[in-house]
Amino acid sequence: MLLGVLLGMLVVAAIGVFVLSSQRLQRRFEVPDAALTIPTDPASIARGDHLAHTRGCLDCHGEQGRGGTFLRAMPVMELRPSNITPGGRTARWSGSDWARAVRHCVRPDGLGIPFMPCGDFRFMGDDDLGAIVAYLRSLPASPNDPGPSVLGPVGRVLFLKGDLPYLVAESIDHRAPVPAAPPAGPTVAYGRYLAAGCTGCHGPGYSGGHIPGTPPDWPPAANITSDPATGIGAITEAQFMAALTEGRTRDGRTINPMHMPWRQFARFTPDERMAIWNFIRSLPRRPAGSR
Ligand code: HEC
Ligand code: HEC
Repeated sequence: MLLGVLLGMLVVAAIGVFVLSSQRLQRRFEVPDAALTIPTDPASIARGDHLAHTRGCLDCHGEQGRGGTFLRAMPVMELRPSNITPGGRTARWSGSDWARAVRHCVRPDGLGIPFMPCGDFRFMGDDDLGAIVAYLRSLPASPNDPGPSVLGPVGRVLFLKGDLPYLVAESIDHRAPVPAAPPAGPTVAYGRYLAAGCTGCHGPGYSGGHIPGTPPDWPPAANITSDPATGIGAITEAQFMAALTEGRTRDGRTINPMHMPWRQFARFTPDERMAIWNFIRSLPRRPAGSR
């Protein structure tokens, strides 16, 4: 009798979690249109190739942009980045559709795109974003359909509790204007622009800690501020470059490329790496995990 009541309560709770999370996932977001022109010249396509790699797009969406299963972490979630070649749903997208998807994690129908680090891409300049799309449009059209990502039962509980940022569009300021990108060069300003791509994992203050939504067996992202006790205080320039190009930590380990896409970062030009280094050195010290 008591067991029956308990079981009944569990079923009701499970249905409640499912209904509430499904309702939240159906939310539609309004994003102002962006006037993004997509270039077609070979120089822009080549630049887009560089950017699509160094910004991690092809790390998740696959080397040819065909999509597939990137992370199997049921019962939390399974992530299936989409086919973003001209053979996928994006085939007839406008520049504005691309800007909405990449900078806001919102699809043309207003629904959110799950778990893509759009916060990192929020202020990507028009030229860079246009070049990435130009490159993606130049890829061989693939008919692959990875299917939608799945939020599992445990993932739904974490999502409702606010512990899993599955619906990225909820945490993005959709109104803020995108300023012009700083001129490329080994400067702190350009480094800040590039290192926006590190914040999804290392935190907006670069102090590292558990990466929200990643499985418990993932290492915390390193504190890359120069905090002497918990950060990369005494790291040399050469050690920093080794982390970006070879995934080597200061204690000589090799970072699992799933945990940090250093194979992609290895494609940063020396000037881009120097810009990131100069910016990282300019950061205020923060204790580890204060994000
Ligand atoms: C951490 C992994 C990750 C990274 C990095 C990433 N994406 Fe995604 N992307 C995803 C996931 C997951 C989805 C959602 C797939 C789904 O469930 O429908 C997605 C969806 C998309 C969509 C929506 C496509 C559609 O069919 O609705 C576009 C467009 C896209 N990504 C482009 C990009 C671009 C361009 C970049 C680089 C600037 C990028 N992504 C970087 C994981 C990633
Ligand atoms: C997808 C998540 C992710 C992204 C994106 C990312 N990192 Fe990391 N990073 C990690 C994790 C996790 C570790 C710790 C790995 C370990 O200890 O095995 C790490 C470690 C490091 C280290 C090594 C510190 C040491 O212990 O010696 C440096 C340096 C670093 N990251 C810099 C960067 C920079 C700069 C960027 C942006 C260009 C970046 N990371 C982007 C996840 C990420």
